[in-house]
Amino acid sequence: MARALRYIKEIGANFVVPSAGPPCFLDDHLFSFNDFDRDPVNTFPDQTVFIEYMQANGLDNGRLMIPGTVGTITREGFTVEHPLPAKEVQAIFSDKRAYLERYRARQQPLIDAQKASWPRGQVDILASIRDWFEPLLEQADLTAVGINGRVLIDCDVQQIVLDFHTRRVYAWNDEEWDYRFHIDRALLEYCIIHHEEDWINQIFLSCRFEAQRKGAYNEYVYNFFKCLTPERLQYAEGYYSEKTAVQQLWESHGYRIQRRCPHLKADLARFAKIENGVLTCTMHGWQFELATGRCLTSEGHPLYAQLIEQPEPVADEAREDIQPADKETAAQYIRTKCDHCWYNPKDLPEMTKKSN
Ligand code: FES
Repeated sequence: MARALRYIKEIGANFVVPSAGPPCFLDDHLFSFNDFDRDPVNTFPDQTVFIEYMQANGLDNGRLMIPGTVGTITREGFTVEHPLPAKEVQAIFSDKRAYLERYRARQQPLIDAQKASWPRGQVDILASIRDWFEPLLEQADLTAVGINGRVLIDCDVQQIVLDFHTRRVYAWNDEEWDYRFHIDRALLEYCIIHHEEDWINQIFLSCRFEAQRKGAYNEYVYNFFKCLTPERLQYAEGYYSEKTAVQQLWESHGYRIQRRCPHLKADLARFAKIENGVLTCTMHGWQFELATGRCLTSEGHPLYAQLIEQPEPVADEAREDIQPADKETAAQYIRTKCDHCWYNPKDLPEMTKKSN
């Protein structure tokens, strides 16, 4: 709450509508996570708690909104109209336990039906996770360094190790683990069947898991479970790479080239294909002309590429040394000879046009 308050003050917010999920927990074993008694250690304070916290810190511009509330913002202020009489709105928070128990009773048939629809025993969990994760682990250089250990996934019927040392997934055989998650088998099967690429949203934010760790909280572990496709993983790897500033460049075809794709940061040392002076990032197909660094797919996303013989990067001015005719010929050559190009050359601005 202190951090949110700091942000509010820093941006000088005129009004604040506190809103953060999850709105409530209805599963029996999670029901106690609801903020019934303003316990300061509860990590899920509701709107009224935060508005009171703001008031205690000298801000009275918080506005309570519940589902169905209409807020009207004018030059004069921000008014709210609730779908219930004020007394009933107040009762939601003053007698929250009773309110949520009634809500849970109404929702129970839906919850039961939803849980009954979860798959159970339909999936070979180990084989599925191995086939899915091992190719990701293969690419997860910086993630593996960041986790630097074993993650055990325990779903009662199977215990599975994600080994970030060996980049392998295997059945647990009493090896030491560094992080352990206990997850209902049905939830795992659901994520596998639906190929959920973000387990943070599907599993962890619902709080339907238990976790243990040896040592400090490690954001790399949770980020990995958020990045369960090559695209997402490459984005995270690119982010880490930029943060750590290691191996920013790589070399190929006589060029020293920026390591991360200007599109969504794929590792070009793995995903680039170079033909006829054009680098194609095979992650999504963006293309770049190595001689100039120009992106052929989208304007304004140049790639750093430097001829290895040249000691300095090729600046725009330096490129004027190349005769326009040569540039035109080269561009024509690339446009007509590059058999994997899917972009439409007619849509491209002139190659010889100097950008500022
Ligand atoms: S990351 Fe999308 S084309 Fe390279």
